[in-house]
Amino acid sequence: MKSLIIYNIKTLYTNNHQPPVKGELMKDLVTFNDCYIFIEEGIIKKIGTGDYHNLINDNTKLYNAEQAIAIPGLIDSHTHLVFGGSREHEFSKKISGVDYLDILKQGGGILSTVKQTKQASFEELYLQAKKTLDEMLLFGVTTIEAKSGYGLELQTEIKTLQVLKQLNEDQPIDIHITYLGAHALPVEYKNRRNEFIDKVIEDLLIIKKEGLAEYVDVFCETGVFDAKETKKILKAAKLLGFKLRVHTDEIDSIGGTQVALNLEAKTVDHLMAITDKDIKEMAKTDTIANLLPSTSFFLNKSYAPARKLIDSGVAVSVSSDYNPGSTPSENYQLTLQISGNKLRMLPSEVLTAATINPAFSLDIDKNKGSLEEGKDADIVLLNCKNLDYFIYHYGINHTKSVFKKGKLVVKDRNLVKEKPYEIS
Ligand code: NIG
Ligand code: FE
Repeated sequence: MKSLIIYNIKTLYTNNHQPPVKGELMKDLVTFNDCYIFIEEGIIKKIGTGDYHNLINDNTKLYNAEQAIAIPGLIDSHTHLVFGGSREHEFSKKISGVDYLDILKQGGGILSTVKQTKQASFEELYLQAKKTLDEMLLFGVTTIEAKSGYGLELQTEIKTLQVLKQLNEDQPIDIHITYLGAHALPVEYKNRRNEFIDKVIEDLLIIKKEGLAEYVDVFCETGVFDAKETKKILKAAKLLGFKLRVHTDEIDSIGGTQVALNLEAKTVDHLMAITDKDIKEMAKTDTIANLLPSTSFFLNKSYAPARKLIDSGVAVSVSSDYNPGSTPSENYQLTLQISGNKLRMLPSEVLTAATINPAFSLDIDKNKGSLEEGKDADIVLLNCKNLDYFIYHYGINHTKSVFKKGKLVVKDRNLVKEKPYEIS
């Protein structure tokens, strides 16, 4: 049996509590100093300290961590990975003070990306997103959630979902796919809102039949879709067997969180404007508050009340929200550092929010999200003295190496290209 020993690890950090991990438990990590990880066929068999030589046989490869720290592969559970073009042409407008939703009202924003996504071929979308995935992997991200939503009509939505499916097969990062048909109201439906909503619902059947998505999401916000419309779409999706995620409470609190909680959504995302009442309600559920602080940073908006959420017993995850408008950056480590500095989350809480809680929201916590015997060997080695240093020293990439199911995919900050799945 093929095995691998990653040895000479300075400290390994993992949150091994049963998810969703809430309150005080979010900061309660297990640590191992001067340890090794023994992996067989991509699965962690042992995390130990001391001598490991008795585990070595002819089929064992050795990897020297050179005193790096080890954490579980990072799980970015909210991205808009696939889109055409980019939106730097709106940047000057944005920094002169034109609001995000006003740019959208003027036909820009999401609608501008919709145009570019429609025009792009499958290959163009594939290549652009593949580059992004390579960047993400270099930052230690081994699993993502990714949404469609720049089609706003079936054909382009299907093209996007198929690009995601293909990418999931072709490269190391696992991709969990979400259909975000109701991301914005297309211009041609301006006076026919109900018709658009009915169309999104009708299309759900096809998406389901073709097995193109696991989740359904809606952008529930003032000027986009209201709570009633959101409920209509999500209810239909749930009936068809989709799991739910919801963009809401980003700018105003218009009832989206209530809708999401009543329908047992896996995540409610953004939450800068969440009310105290909704925080209390949420604490009683298994729905994860998926916070996106890089979006607050880029849009110069307020930050979600992470401290209040955690201290009230809500399970929190943090994600990049990678997209061309509100977060044009693949740097998930920066998201984690902003989570520390601006959301006032402790480094230990940030790690939990980037590993086991997002794993729970993606229903993969049995195999991923922590470093424990029996789980997949998705492991990131960081050139850091300790976990605090990782969150404190911001703006750079701390990755040394990345393992995906025990295979070396990033080695000394470079993608392993020639023999992608072998230790060399
Ligand atoms: O999560 N809020 C809606 N969707 C994205 C932004 C998409 C875009 O601007 O292209 C978000 O921030
Ligand atoms: Fe988003």
